[in-house]
Amino acid sequence: VDNVGVLAMEIYFPSQYVDQVELEKFDGVAEGKYTIGLGQSKMGFCSDREDINTLCFTVLHRLIENNNIDLRDIGRLEVGTETIIDKSKSVKTFLMTLFAKEGVTDIEGIDTTNACYGGTAALFNAINWVESSSWDGRKAIVIAGDIAVYSKGPARPTGGAGAVAMLIGPDAPLVFDRGVRASYMRHAYDFYKPDLSSEFPYVDGKLSIKCYLSALDNCYQLFCEKMKRKDPDFKGLLSVDGMLFHSPYCKLVQKSLGRLCFNDFLLTPVEQRDGFFPGLSQFNNYKLEDTYFDRDVEKAFMAYSQSLFEEKTKPSLHIARQVGNMYTASLYGGLVSYLISKSPDQLVGKKFALFSYGSGLASTMYSINICNDVSAGSKLEKLINGLHKAVKFLDERESVEPTMFSNTMDVRTKNYHTAPYEPSGSIEALFPGTYYLVKIDEQRRRIYERK
Ligand code: ACO
Repeated sequence: VDNVGVLAMEIYFPSQYVDQVELEKFDGVAEGKYTIGLGQSKMGFCSDREDINTLCFTVLHRLIENNNIDLRDIGRLEVGTETIIDKSKSVKTFLMTLFAKEGVTDIEGIDTTNACYGGTAALFNAINWVESSSWDGRKAIVIAGDIAVYSKGPARPTGGAGAVAMLIGPDAPLVFDRGVRASYMRHAYDFYKPDLSSEFPYVDGKLSIKCYLSALDNCYQLFCEKMKRKDPDFKGLLSVDGMLFHSPYCKLVQKSLGRLCFNDFLLTPVEQRDGFFPGLSQFNNYKLEDTYFDRDVEKAFMAYSQSLFEEKTKPSLHIARQVGNMYTASLYGGLVSYLISKSPDQLVGKKFALFSYGSGLASTMYSINICNDVSAGSKLEKLINGLHKAVKFLDERESVEPTMFSNTMDVRTKNYHTAPYEPSGSIEALFPGTYYLVKIDEQRRRIYERK
């Protein structure tokens, strides 16, 4: 089968957010720390009415409804998440409620977990399945979703929540390049969730940034090597139209683009550097591994990459800036943001590179091509029109005072392990079509409804 990739997409984020300017005041930090320092403007959050099942249910239902998907045409359903509410039972099995209603139960795939990387692993599983001998001609659905919450302190403003659903199959408008995925995986304790009685991670912020950047360096160099084997003219960043990143907070993404230019600089023979990178020769003898927090390198290469950033990356940050980190869904929210920033004819034939990072750590850089086949053009247009509809919800959200946000976090924290439990969060506040938690019974079984 040819042109395997994304046929349709949906995104869901919570109906309430806290403004980062107000949060700076509430937290008593310097003005600009969250908005300029982290590059964040708003942070979406969920009350105790929502959990990982409701997020995934909601986005799946929207995908099916808006694309008139016949459930009998789905042979695989994958979920990537790090929001764990059950040590055994997968989110996927909850989602089967929708399929079983139609008598559809022959569906492969299950949940995949490693921090923000699970969505990418789930996506690769789906792509691989369609390209494999196990494929039976049906399509796959991949859901990536998370509720990103941190305990009080410096990491809290880098939270967020949301879910993305993707329909995968052949003859797609967004096609995955084969044989060039470049991964970097190793052990690190930068961010992990060993306390199963808490929703919050243990996080070593500085180490997580260092791990993210070192994974980026490694993936980028390997990705370029693999691409060059297929196309000797491949020039890394300069050969892609979009460069998308997992976005813990937008400032790190801008720094990351500068970092790729620093990689390109070091990969350029010294005698040619002045031509391509004028005025940067003072960094000739610098090394990647010594410069994760080097202010001079960071500043110089962010300035160098400013216009590349505006063109190739900034359009992908629209949702991340307004919702925050959606963990496994973050990179795919970036893809949605990029797609809606252009018209279909601006996108035809374009190539994107995507960098997926999950702490602990697992990372991959891979690429997507927008099909330039005319018959796929209408599919692309339909995909983008659908996304415009979904993203409009950003402006229909309710701004909530930081005190209310903080109280909501306290309610979630206090009741994380309470059973039986009846949530107190407002149903009124949810968008129409949102699934919500009605109650948890004494056997800790969860009961849901759809608004
Ligand atoms: N105006 C403008 N900028 C400011 C101001 C101000 N008044 N005050 C501070 N800043 C800047 C700082 O200079 C810093 O910028 P820099 O990174 O360019 O140096 C930025 O704001 C953040 O300030 P720090 O003091 O570095 O923030 P702190 O250490 O308190 O927390 C951190 C930041 C580590 C990112 C924290 O939010 C965190 O731990 N987040 C979760 C971990 C994370 O997201 N890791 C990324 C990869 S892993 C993943 O995806 C989960």
